[in-house]
Amino acid sequence: MLVLCSFIIVQAQSEKDFVKENLAFCNTQLYGMLADKSLQTNKFPRTTNAKGELTSTSMYDWTPGFFPGSLWYGYEFSKYESLKDAAIKWTEKLEPLQTFTGHHDLGFMMYCSYGNAYRLTNNESYKNILIRSAKALSTRFNSKIGCIKSWNSFKSFHGDKTYNFPVIIDNMMNLEMLFFASKVSGDPTYRNVAVTHALTTMKNHFRPDYSSYHVVCYDSVSGKVETREAAQGYADNSTWARGQAWAIYGFTMTYRETKDPRFLKTAKGLAKYFINNKNLPSDYIPIWDFNAWQKGYIPGGNSNAPNIPVLYRDASAAAITASALLELSTCTTGDEAKQFKNAAVKMLHSLGSVAYRAKAGNNGNFILMHSVGSIPHNNEIDVPLVYADYYFIEALLRYEKLLDGKKLF
Ligand code: GLY
Repeated sequence: MLVLCSFIIVQAQSEKDFVKENLAFCNTQLYGMLADKSLQTNKFPRTTNAKGELTSTSMYDWTPGFFPGSLWYGYEFSKYESLKDAAIKWTEKLEPLQTFTGHHDLGFMMYCSYGNAYRLTNNESYKNILIRSAKALSTRFNSKIGCIKSWNSFKSFHGDKTYNFPVIIDNMMNLEMLFFASKVSGDPTYRNVAVTHALTTMKNHFRPDYSSYHVVCYDSVSGKVETREAAQGYADNSTWARGQAWAIYGFTMTYRETKDPRFLKTAKGLAKYFINNKNLPSDYIPIWDFNAWQKGYIPGGNSNAPNIPVLYRDASAAAITASALLELSTCTTGDEAKQFKNAAVKMLHSLGSVAYRAKAGNNGNFILMHSVGSIPHNNEIDVPLVYADYYFIEALLRYEKLLDGKKLF
């Protein structure tokens, strides 16, 4: 018994050391990026170019919230005031977005930045910006369909048809800001939008085995589903790895906010599809689409990416999933909880290894290598991505809390 207890204590300590070493490395890279000469004041880090140099986007793309969010996490871990100053500076650049209604990604843009800012500072002005952002996002909700419109239109890869009410699985991630806004404002509207969107997604976005479609397009007059297709995945009937990751994270978070067992059942089914998948490599970092390599999988060869070498990994999908599974492990018990936690820890150890973690000062000062933006669009293939880093840091912080016996929320 004594030997077993000593073993558990030593193992927990080595896991704590693993987390601390990785978080310290993340801060090294964040400071490296802040000092990078190619970091422009009005653009937001996203990935690297062919020369391995930092490239950035405008604030109106979907990813500007992740760099400030990572700075907040870096500050949370280290308590370094210089990181807090940088986090404030990079967060406040996004203030004009509080009334932005151009696409659905406002949750990513504002909750990763201002959400963390408010959580760590209690600054009331940040809270009000988040409420206004939730209001802006809610303008894209259609009550006949029961969903927030993701993109303004979607052009099918097959034929000429363009659809006017596409909803993508990623949209589940934008709901967290709506739940927050209702809690702090007392106005239930935002929460109702979020719950309805999640229920509609649960009905239409998944196959019986809990694999996900990427894009579901609706008819805004009848409210009915018009088509289910892929945009960033391999094919309409395949499972895009990051889409599945967004779904696991989104439904776990929605269960946290509602305690509705239907959302937990869905989160567990989605998670099991991912971690028990025969196509998941042994290091638990998925290939960019769970079916990408399966020649003949697609009836009629209806693939968006038929000529692309298909075995690229997507570290971003693993980082998002690791963070989600750590939370899901706290919503479950017994063997199920262990299964989710062990899978998350396995992903974190792979991501923290030399196979995926960059060397200090390399990789455009991003933390992780080997993510994929969109293979069918021939865009961002086998590169670092700012959101892979954000969810990696988040997952490490969550793991640290669990190792310390603390609650995540
Ligand atoms: N939300 C867009 C993506 O995951 O690529």
